[in-house]
Amino acid sequence: MNVHDSEKIAGIFSEAGYCETGGTDDADVIVLNTCSIREKAEQKFFSELGRLRKAKKNNPDLKIAVAGCIAQQKGKDLFRRFPYVDFVFGPDNIDILQNWVTRNTEHATPDMAGRTQAVALTDNPDYHVKNLPVKRAGRFRAWVSIIYGCNNFCAYCVVPYTRGRERSRPGKDIYNEVKSLAEQGFKEITLLGQNVNSYGRTFPEECDFPDLLRRIHDIDGIERIRFVTSHPRDFSEKLIKAMRDLPKVCEHLHLPLQSGSDKILHLMNRGYTYEDYKNKIDLLRNNIKDIAITTDIIVGFPGESEADFKQTATALAEIGFDGIFAFKYSRRPGTKALDLPGHVDEKVKSQRLSKVLELQESITYNKNKSLEGKVYEILTEGKSPTDGDRLTGRTRTNKIVNFYGEQDLIGSLVNVKILEAKPHSLYGEAVQTPH
Ligand code: 5AD
Ligand code: SF4
Repeated sequence: MNVHDSEKIAGIFSEAGYCETGGTDDADVIVLNTCSIREKAEQKFFSELGRLRKAKKNNPDLKIAVAGCIAQQKGKDLFRRFPYVDFVFGPDNIDILQNWVTRNTEHATPDMAGRTQAVALTDNPDYHVKNLPVKRAGRFRAWVSIIYGCNNFCAYCVVPYTRGRERSRPGKDIYNEVKSLAEQGFKEITLLGQNVNSYGRTFPEECDFPDLLRRIHDIDGIERIRFVTSHPRDFSEKLIKAMRDLPKVCEHLHLPLQSGSDKILHLMNRGYTYEDYKNKIDLLRNNIKDIAITTDIIVGFPGESEADFKQTATALAEIGFDGIFAFKYSRRPGTKALDLPGHVDEKVKSQRLSKVLELQESITYNKNKSLEGKVYEILTEGKSPTDGDRLTGRTRTNKIVNFYGEQDLIGSLVNVKILEAKPHSLYGEAVQTPH
């Protein structure tokens, strides 16, 4: 979500005639797009901002802006603690940057671009109907926002407080953006939202997420459709059918489980039990052959006993995810979990995190091994960043494959035979000309 927000921020600058610099030394403006999902992200931001104090001293004309969820939460406090910050804007006010940027270019004097005038942290109820310019990082794969905010209030999560209530973007705007991406040569899109399954819930006319998928599916040129993130409670049979029936929708689903313990899931306010989750996975696997499933896990949520943690480990072994993102529970300001009893010791959290990562590593490795000798369709994205002699791309199941092939395959769909699976990567060779 934040990466795509940064693409929108870059889009606004680009439209105003700015270009990216190689580093901070020769920059006229620096924007820090912040994340506050866990404390670690926040700490990283504060140390980075601290480092910029010197940059501002060396170049008083330098403008520093803070965007994203920390900006939303801290607001004007940031000006007090860091007087060299010029502009603060939250994730639902990225459009306001347009005013700031143009004012800055037209009247590039420190007074006119005074630091308090462009603070905008108030709700921006029309944000979801604004179509901002986007400077895309990739050439073939693109993010497309479909729903903003979140209504779920999971007990650990700061997002509903920083990104506000759910608002679905009009289907017509989404369709037009995807169509324009197809015309520009993009082959894959990922529909983006905190909870894509509740897309369209607030619309007067019926258009839910599966309906949206069907509309987008008709657009020529787009070969692959993905979406993140789905909430298990709202993940419907109708959506499973749409995934099964629409060939461009890839065989991969990211479905955050968070915990294998019903007690913890309840305390987290997730709205499902482990059995509900498992039943959905079974239905999915029965309908979509070889679907890859990934998840998010939190260890050490308040009240998580050794027995609760074991249930998470059992869930990982039982379900056999293709990959997981695992995190230690992190206290976030304003969230319900702060007041829960039984906060878990940091050391225990770290031990539990190591255990789940270790367990998952062998599961992922075995899954990767089972792919050896098989042929998969890869969307070739470019040269491998780790091995310049190879190309890199992803399977429809979202696995990264590095393979030998000619440069002119970049941007096309190629059949690749998997020759070797390593714990964290797959190696192969192109076996056919692109379609
Ligand atoms: N502590 C740890 N992990 C968290 N996540 C969200 N909030 C927290 C928190 N306070 C994780 C969840 C979510 C993912 C995006 O980040 O697993 O699915
Ligand atoms: Fe956070 Fe839960 Fe909303 Fe995801 S669904 S953004 S975890 S509150």
